[in-house]
Formats: sequence, structure tokens, C-alpha cells
Amino acid sequence: MKQRTPTYPIDPMILHRYSSRAMSKELIKNDELMTLFEAARWAPSSYNNQPWRFLYAQRETPLWYLFFSLLLPANQVWAKNASTLVVLISRNLFEKNGKPSRCHSFDAGSAFENLALQGVKNGFVVHPMQGFDDIKAKTALCIPDVFSVEIMIAIGKPGKKDDLPKELAEKETFTERRPLSDIVIEGPFKE
Ligand SMILES: Cc1cc2nc3c(=O)[nH]c(=O)nc-3n(C[C@H](O)[C@H](O)[C@H](O)COP(=O)(O)O)c2cc1C
Repeated sequence: MKQRTPTYPIDPMILHRYSSRAMSKELIKNDELMTLFEAARWAPSSYNNQPWRFLYAQRETPLWYLFFSLLLPANQVWAKNASTLVVLISRNLFEKNGKPSRCHSFDAGSAFENLALQGVKNGFVVHPMQGFDDIKAKTALCIPDVFSVEIMIAIGKPGKKDDLPKELAEKETFTERRPLSDIVIEGPFKE
């Protein structure tokens, strides 16, 4: 695979995280999975409110199909080989005073990235997905209205790229990024 080259030196773990679709169907042990959620647990959050909740299903359990059925067909094609499917939700009101939290989704994103990086470090594939029926997820998983449905996550052991449909195998590459100069601005906003 074409390597990624950072403009400035960064930890290889960050550079090597990518959203692979090639997974082997191999089961992840409970302790291995909990290690990933543990990493997520230590993310920062506004007022340390920790609004994230991770609902999950392991393959070969009765819950698996319920989670799998939430995915859009384009994601089912490859996520069928995951070991775990997760629905990440976040509480949109602060628990301490019931006021709206402006940053709950941001907090949940931080927790996701902790999980993803721990996943890379531990040799797993961690793939975030917005391609699922979030409305159906709310009812199917009994999610209270005070929680927003954020993303689904497929977690698995790496598989063979060539076992994917051809068009997806071709996408098993490291994506590029905008240059730093496009995203970092000294002072006020400018194009
Ligand atoms: C919020 C979010 C939603 C995404 N939804 C999907 C999805 O539904 N299906 C998919 O195959 N990839 C999905 N992705 C993966 C992105 O396409 C991927 O992160 C992006 O192209 C950058 O590539 P990389 O993660 O391999 O570095 C999603 C990523 C994020 C962060």
C-alpha cells in the first residue's frame, strides 16, 4: 500500500490508522474488546460529562443480526466480516443540570478516536460508519430521546483485501489529507 507521508513527524500509530474494510470474521475476545472501550473511556469531554455510550453486539450472538440489520447494504457487504458492531450514542443534555450540551457529539468523536487508535495499536480494524438507519436504531435499541445516535463502528481482525468485492479491494488504500496550510489559520478565518 502507498505509504502516508506527514509534513511534520507524528506518531506512526496516527499515520497508520485507516478505515479498512477487510476483516477476517475472527472473533475478538471480550477482554480485547473491553480494552478498546477502556481507551474510549479516558477521552476528554466538556465538564467531564462523558456523554458517550457504546451499545455493541458480537458476531455469533443473538444480538448480532439486530445490529447488522441497521446497516445500509453498502456497508453490510463488508461489515458482515466484522467481529463486533457498535452503535455510538451521546447524551445531549448535561446530567448535572439538564441543560443542553453543545459539545456532546464532539466528545463522542474524541472517544471514538481513542478507541480507533487503541485498535490500531492492538492490531484490529476499526471502521466508523454513518451509513445506517439511525431512526431505526433508536427504536430497535430502545435509545432514550435524550441521546443522539452518532455513528456505528465495525471492529474486527484484519482480513485479506482480495476477499473483498473488486471495487472495495481497490479502495484498500491510505487516503490522503488536505495540506496543513488549508486547515490551520493563524488568526481570523480566511479562505
Ligand atoms: C463519521 C464517519 C462516517 C463514516 N461513514 C462511513 C460509512 O458509512 N461507510 C464507509 O465505508 N466508511 C465510512 N467512513 C470512513 C471514511 O470514509 C474514512 O474515514 C475517510 O475516507 C478517511 O479515510 P481513513 O479513515 O482510511 O483515513 C466514515 C468515517 C467517519 C469519520
